[in-house]
Amino acid sequence: MSIFVYPGSFDPVTNGHLDIIDRASKLCDHLIVAVLTNSGKCPVFDREERLSLLQQVMGERENIEIRSFDGLLVHFMEEVGATTIVKGLRAMSDFEYEMQMALINKHLNPAVETLFMMADTQYSFLSSSAVRELARHGGPVEDFVPEGAVEAIRRKFKHKDAGQ
Ligand code: PNS
Repeated sequence: MSIFVYPGSFDPVTNGHLDIIDRASKLCDHLIVAVLTNSGKCPVFDREERLSLLQQVMGERENIEIRSFDGLLVHFMEEVGATTIVKGLRAMSDFEYEMQMALINKHLNPAVETLFMMADTQYSFLSSSAVRELARHGGPVEDFVPEGAVEAIRRKFKHKDAGQ
């Protein structure tokens, strides 16, 4: 059985992530969407919020599972018996960093492959950080994130502003 892992911060999930999840899930028996919880970045959405947003917008999908992980990705891959890391590439600017990650992961575990998928052109400019920026200033996040995530994102930034 082929198990692929699509790792990320998902802070928050965007339409670009969903596109990669959809396409990658057709290339393997089982796809694990793995949410990194201990990144050096300080996420706006906490672990539970990121997991539940993903769960909400994905619904129940037969071969897709959503999990969180801490530490090194290759250790998580070994723990779940996965063979392949799926990454989305939007532009050349993603390439250098992603190549470095892929080579380090390969060094750590030569059996692990990284599969790069080109983001669809309509999402080639889209990132979670752009969505956060839009939401912070009351912009139209609904153009860039799944319908099920819009309210939670708006609410988050309303509360953040109120707390400032
Ligand atoms: O959505 P992001 O923030 O671009 O995702 C980055 C992620 C989670 C894929 C990457 O930071 C990662 O794999 N982190 C786990 C730590 C690790 O294994 N790093 C690679 C070796 S240095």
